[in-house]
Amino acid sequence: MIKDMQAEILRLKKERDVCILAHSYMSEEVCEVADFVGDSYALAVKAKTAPQSTVLMCGVRFMAETVKILSPQKKVILSNPLAGCPMAEQMDRDVIAEVKKMYPGYAVVAYINTTAELKTIADYCVTSSSALKICRAIPEKNILFIPDINLGTYIKNQLPEKNFKLLSGGCPTHARIEKSDVLAAKKLHSDALFLVHPECRPEVAELADYVGSTSGIMDFAEKSAAKEFIIGTENSIVQHLQYRCPAKKFYPLSKDMVCHNMKLTTLPEVYACLTGNGGEEIEISEETRVAAAVCIERMIAYGG
Ligand code: 13P
Ligand code: SF4
Repeated sequence: MIKDMQAEILRLKKERDVCILAHSYMSEEVCEVADFVGDSYALAVKAKTAPQSTVLMCGVRFMAETVKILSPQKKVILSNPLAGCPMAEQMDRDVIAEVKKMYPGYAVVAYINTTAELKTIADYCVTSSSALKICRAIPEKNILFIPDINLGTYIKNQLPEKNFKLLSGGCPTHARIEKSDVLAAKKLHSDALFLVHPECRPEVAELADYVGSTSGIMDFAEKSAAKEFIIGTENSIVQHLQYRCPAKKFYPLSKDMVCHNMKLTTLPEVYACLTGNGGEEIEISEETRVAAAVCIERMIAYGG
């Protein structure tokens, strides 16, 4: 049944000139029909060069918006209209515009997990895999980092030469994890390395053997000589790694590390999008798109 639906999706995407991009938090069966699977940074870069006329983004809204901002000539479809990122909705453009006035001379560095509207007043955009490199490389010494306080703290601690102002946003899935969860997991799996996403709290990240993006965590685990790993990010990564490295063992840090928004996209949903019965076409006004593109283009220029 799954294989039949996947075969039909592969046929339809070719017939209709659709590129399927999937974030690494998608299920295994959705990743299998994608043209490309990756972290937020890789998806943003890939979308620019995809030759197809339509992009189906299997992920959350800000990811589909990023594709549309960079490729306005393409039709961009978000796999499930309800799939938002709660962190991206946390900060309002007008409020941040006021905060910006309070800190003249500070560059606004926005995590890519923000709305297109908010990106219009950001100076630079970053992802978890590119934030350190970009914050280090930009000429400004003073940085107002929005919205993720945990990622911001992680970067700030590594760049003492810069001045950071942080606001208190964050990812509910990662921020709910506490130090006691890590200690409990380490007690259960004492030989395992602990790999974590920088959206987790500083006291959690401090206990990690590796801190990185979703793709960074997967690459590290695949290349490592170690045999056991506690995975401190969305639990789909545990499943992907277990498929890729059957000789190794992967343990979720917590059963609660589930992003319900990412889980909204199922294989039947992807099929419905390709038959014109699902998804949402992303529309962004040209004014917003042009203004939001500035910080994303800078991200690609500085991020390499
Ligand atoms: P990545 O850039 O690591 O893919 O992170 C995106 C995200 O939403 C993690 O929660
Ligand atoms: Fe947003 Fe967190 Fe889900 Fe990532 S895991 S999409 S940051 S809510």
